[in-house]
Amino acid sequence: MYSRYDGGVENKRWFEPGHVAIVTGASQGFGFAVAALLAKRGLNLVITARHAAVLDEAARTLHRDTSLVALAGDVADGGHVHALASAAQRNFGRIDLIVNNASTLGLSPMPALEHLARDTFDVLFLTNAFAPLHLIQQALPALRRTHGTIVNVSSDAAPSAYAGWGGYGASKAALEHLSRTLAVELHGSGVSVIVADPANMQTAMHRDAEPGEDLSSLPHPEAVAPALLEAIARPRDAFLRVELQSNMMPVTA
Ligand SMILES: NC(=O)c1ccc[n+]([C@@H]2O[C@H](COP(=O)([O-])OP(=O)(O)OC[C@H]3O[C@@H](n4cnc5c(N)ncnc54)[C@H](OP(=O)(O)O)[C@@H]3O)[C@@H](O)[C@H]2O)c1
Repeated sequence: MYSRYDGGVENKRWFEPGHVAIVTGASQGFGFAVAALLAKRGLNLVITARHAAVLDEAARTLHRDTSLVALAGDVADGGHVHALASAAQRNFGRIDLIVNNASTLGLSPMPALEHLARDTFDVLFLTNAFAPLHLIQQALPALRRTHGTIVNVSSDAAPSAYAGWGGYGASKAALEHLSRTLAVELHGSGVSVIVADPANMQTAMHRDAEPGEDLSSLPHPEAVAPALLEAIARPRDAFLRVELQSNMMPVTA
């Protein structure tokens, strides 16, 4: 069990009602927890995930707090990514924040690199590295106008080597490198880039990553998501890499 993150001075300009965020993988897990916090602050949302029924259920919940567009589809599909950015512009007229959260493990259980197939590798890099960049490319003209923020959700498997995690970790390392390069290229534009590592949480993805493991001691994504909003609001340079659980205190009683 972990306590909710609680700290930092918030720059309110990021959370003004009427601002607009695109959140991928928002039907469940960390993406839904982040979308719920943004909705409570009155941001208009464009959300996506592949399974329409689960996404629609999430949309009904989020709609209690804000206006939103839910578009079911795969972020690996370029036409779908284009539709997400277009929907934000057409429905709300601006984009202030992108949260590139949707991600795949490729396979469950994850194979050692010796057995990682080319088609799995392709899906990993397309979904976890290129798709976030593609959404950024589609949204950048709008983000430049709002001096917006790009959040790319990564993992400690990017900087660290764990057996079985090599394909996924390499795709997240690629995402982190793209993020750092983007921040250099966007210097002076007013657009900020954040790489956020939420660390281990009790989610479907983590259950697929560690089949049969007891995850009950891990935090739920709702406990971790507030730290991402704090990171977005934090005054900073053009690039920030943040480990979202580093300031969370374990609950001992
Ligand atoms: N859980 C952890 O312990 C942990 C640790 C470190 C980093 N992370 C990162 O945190 C992020 C969220 O993970 P999570 O644990 O919350 O996962 P999750 O509970 O499995 O949720 C993943 C979300 O992404 C969607 N999604 C997956 N593939 C997609 C695709 N190709 N196109 C569109 N949507 C897609 C899923 O819906 P559909 O299946 O319907 O598409 C779902 O909404 C990921 O980037 C992950 O790498 C997680």
